Amino acid sequence: MQHTTKTYDVRSGRNQYHLIPYIGNKSGFAHIFDELVPDDAGSGDIIDVFGGSGAFAIYCSFRFGSRQVTYNDNNPVMVNFMECVRDGPSDLMERYEEHRARSDNKYFLEVRKSDISGGLEGAGRFLYLAKNAFSGKIRFNGSGRFNAPMRKGAGCPKLDKERLLDISHSIRHMKITNRPFESWGRTRNAFMYLDPPYMNNTNAHYNMVPSTESFAKFVHAITPHNRVMISEQNEPADIGIPECYAVYRVRLRRSLQYVTQSDSREIVAINYEPDGHRAAAG
Ligand SMILES: C[S@@+](CC[C@H](N)C(=O)[O-])C[C@H]1O[C@@H](n2cnc3c(N)ncnc32)[C@H](O)[C@@H]1O
Repeated sequence: MQHTTKTYDVRSGRNQYHLIPYIGNKSGFAHIFDELVPDDAGSGDIIDVFGGSGAFAIYCSFRFGSRQVTYNDNNPVMVNFMECVRDGPSDLMERYEEHRARSDNKYFLEVRKSDISGGLEGAGRFLYLAKNAFSGKIRFNGSGRFNAPMRKGAGCPKLDKERLLDISHSIRHMKITNRPFESWGRTRNAFMYLDPPYMNNTNAHYNMVPSTESFAKFVHAITPHNRVMISEQNEPADIGIPECYAVYRVRLRRSLQYVTQSDSREIVAINYEPDGHRAAAG
């Protein structure tokens, strides 16, 4: 394992790649992607295997165009939402405004009980819940139900419509799939980004967390055949990342990982040489 001396700081992710507040949203990693994602990544398939709020897939769509980009997540709520962002942003914004006009604590709890995985109606409800979840901490329980409480104080936020339309336009050719990560194990000649739910972390936010064994097996299967970038909180050896990876440190100044923690650390590991000319001195 090559431990690089480089540490990246991540301060804010409120940029053009930021779609919704989401635990683990990587929009703030754009400067890291600028340096570590090679210029020719767009000449083959790019797969965001644990897509979440899509920050990496959106980033790549802006940088390389979206024809080669695949967003994947095993949560049907996220997949339906991304499809609506791509295919019906104006209708989605209309649904959001309808919720916004009625928003209060009681209404939030009512919406939380409704279906959020089906079509525009589901996506509109999910967007409303996501924008109003307590300190931006979307949470799903083990049966896939959204269970975050409502944010306190301020009213229902306005949507940044221009940003939503820009994102929608940029991802217009992006493929969106709803598959378990293991099903990508036979991928060849792609650029794959893995940002799994943080393993060995007791803060459950997603519908499921892979076992370290299944994740390690997957990483071993894809590593020889693809360029791979992995984001994680654990030390690489603890989750079975092979020796051939170079490891970069990341300091998150404003963490969305823990309720009480304002600083947290992650790693980014890659199994290829980054482009020299993009990599600024660290
Ligand atoms: C850390 S989040 C990814 C955050 C994302 N990079 C972003 O910028 O928003 C991990 C994602 O993995 C998804 N996930 C959990 N288990 C999965 C599985 N077995 N296969 C595919 N995706 C999974 C979760 O639904 C969650 O959206």
